[in-house]
Amino acid sequence: MIKKYIFGKPLLKTYAVIEEVKAGEKLPYFQITHDHKIRFTCPLEEKDLVFGLGENTRGINKRPGLYISYNSDNPHHRDNTPSLYASHNFFVLDGRRHFGAFFDTPSKIKFEIDRNNSGEIKVSTANQNLEVYIIEGDDSYDISRQFLKIIGQSFLPPLWAFGFGQSRWGYKDQKDFETVMEKHRENDLPLDWICMDIDYMDRFIDFTINKQRFPDMQGFVDKTRKRGIHLVPIIDAGVKIEPGDPTYDEGVKNGYFCTNKDGKFFKAAVWPGMTHFPDFFRPEVRQWFGQRYKVLTDLGFEGFWNDMNEPSIFYSEYNKLRSLWHLSLNFYFPHSQDKAVDNDKKHDYHCFFNEVNGQKVKHHLVHNLYGGYMTMAASEELQKLLDRRFLLFSRSSYIGAHRYGGIWTGDNESLWEHLKLNICQMPGLNMCGFLYSGADTGGFGGKCDRELLLRWLAFSAFTPLMRNHAEKGSRRQECYSFGDTADFKSILDFRYHLIPYLYSEFMKAALNHDLLFKPLSFVFKDDERVRTIEDQLIVGDSIMVTPVIEKGATGRKVYLPQPMTEVRYDGKEFRCQKVEKGEREIKVALNEIVFYILKDKCLPIGKAARNTSELDLKDVYLLGDGKTYQQYLDDGYSRNVCPEKIRTINNK
Ligand code: GLC
Repeated sequence: MIKKYIFGKPLLKTYAVIEEVKAGEKLPYFQITHDHKIRFTCPLEEKDLVFGLGENTRGINKRPGLYISYNSDNPHHRDNTPSLYASHNFFVLDGRRHFGAFFDTPSKIKFEIDRNNSGEIKVSTANQNLEVYIIEGDDSYDISRQFLKIIGQSFLPPLWAFGFGQSRWGYKDQKDFETVMEKHRENDLPLDWICMDIDYMDRFIDFTINKQRFPDMQGFVDKTRKRGIHLVPIIDAGVKIEPGDPTYDEGVKNGYFCTNKDGKFFKAAVWPGMTHFPDFFRPEVRQWFGQRYKVLTDLGFEGFWNDMNEPSIFYSEYNKLRSLWHLSLNFYFPHSQDKAVDNDKKHDYHCFFNEVNGQKVKHHLVHNLYGGYMTMAASEELQKLLDRRFLLFSRSSYIGAHRYGGIWTGDNESLWEHLKLNICQMPGLNMCGFLYSGADTGGFGGKCDRELLLRWLAFSAFTPLMRNHAEKGSRRQECYSFGDTADFKSILDFRYHLIPYLYSEFMKAALNHDLLFKPLSFVFKDDERVRTIEDQLIVGDSIMVTPVIEKGATGRKVYLPQPMTEVRYDGKEFRCQKVEKGEREIKVALNEIVFYILKDKCLPIGKAARNTSELDLKDVYLLGDGKTYQQYLDDGYSRNVCPEKIRTINNK
């Protein structure tokens, strides 16, 4: 059962909830206090866990911790960082009582969950106008599914988006991209897509191509497609101030950009230098910006990533000098979490305006919706520009944006703790609607080594978005950059064997408002022990994954809540054995993946392939002791997907 509670007069309808929900009278579970803020407090019992909050730091269980929804570009985040790139304000309290709560507000909101042993959840916001949804149900899993239903079906990517994606900021010309393809081919490493970062553009100007570096882009896109590989260009939120550039000129002529207090277009520096930000809150601006992608779809591109859309601001017309000083400080002491830079950025969000339903409002009041609206702009128009499913993923998001595109979890680092974070984030992201998601595998910043990349890939092999991405200037971390590629081939081949299952489970989850990644406790409800397990996850209906996440480890301890089938893949074959319920010590070599098939379940395994265009989703065999598998099947790109496209495969 779901009820909505309205406080004050919300400025706008966020695009999060799309089903009609009845209004309730008095908000249950929380005590409310008002002063300049509105505070909701709810006592916690000792054994209560808190799941959800999407893209955030810390564990699957958010208790204890401080989380502030205020979309922020923070590449050096650590466990105590309160704000990342997205705002996903839904959590479930799981204990003797169960309920879900979604705080629907586009402005800053703070979640203090048993912070400093307070024994309570405290949610506070200066914006007194918001809607709160309370969801009651049988258990946390049921509550999460009810929530997924009211926020609407996930974005559906094409099949090729489930292949392996290679990316690096710094690939600058056609030759660099050709090298990536050649190296993959030479080493027999599968590959479906390569990201084009900002260097493909002319001076980082959106919807342009650097003609020196790509003299015949259309021909290149074509040639690449013939090899079964897609090129996926980046688009940034900031439009360079560049008279003569059509995006800039049209935006200025029609007044499509965010304004400052004098009514002039707000100026902020991002990669291209000074830019203006499109005011995505206005439908006509979304339509215009979305149609700009035509420049690229006309060249044959069918996938995009939207970036810097918190929006990220290096410095603005208001804090140029101060920020330059702080930026250089931050460059030399990146982990100082320099408060001043942070404050300056936050200051910027108070200095410009968006137009919301014809009314100018200070950006900070609607800040958390900005990036998601950019995704909506792109997605709605790409649907008109292309006759098939496309790939689209964004850095910034709000709940609701999951209907328009996927997300990656933003800049991270080559750290074992960030691999662990990736694992912990997956269920929370799914609970908030974001099924098509994943992290920068190997880490964006820092120095990735062979071992970390292999272990990280072995986990990413289960995430729908599987992309190796790294920062310019960092150590090379392509799968062919560490000498012998056989171990990498084993892990990437595994991914392609798994695609028939992953694709089928993804589509079923999307069509049935279900999760793909679940904490163990969502499935094994009566087993007290699984409640605190944070390094094993259920993926889809049939399997449990147990990634190795420690440096130097030759294996790990796993806990099995029931007897299962242990599956081991080492690049040559799948070996299965029945194992008992309980704890197990397992060895996992660097080229191996070990996972478990749940009792009475099975999964389809496909053939290895160089890319998804070679895959036949029907050409599978089953592993596990389940009697049948319900496989979702379609051509991988048509829009008319429906739950009827299920075939039953019998296990012989
Ligand atoms: C941002 C993105 C990163 C990208 C870089 C350059 O940091 O998060 O993925 O490579 O900008 O465009």
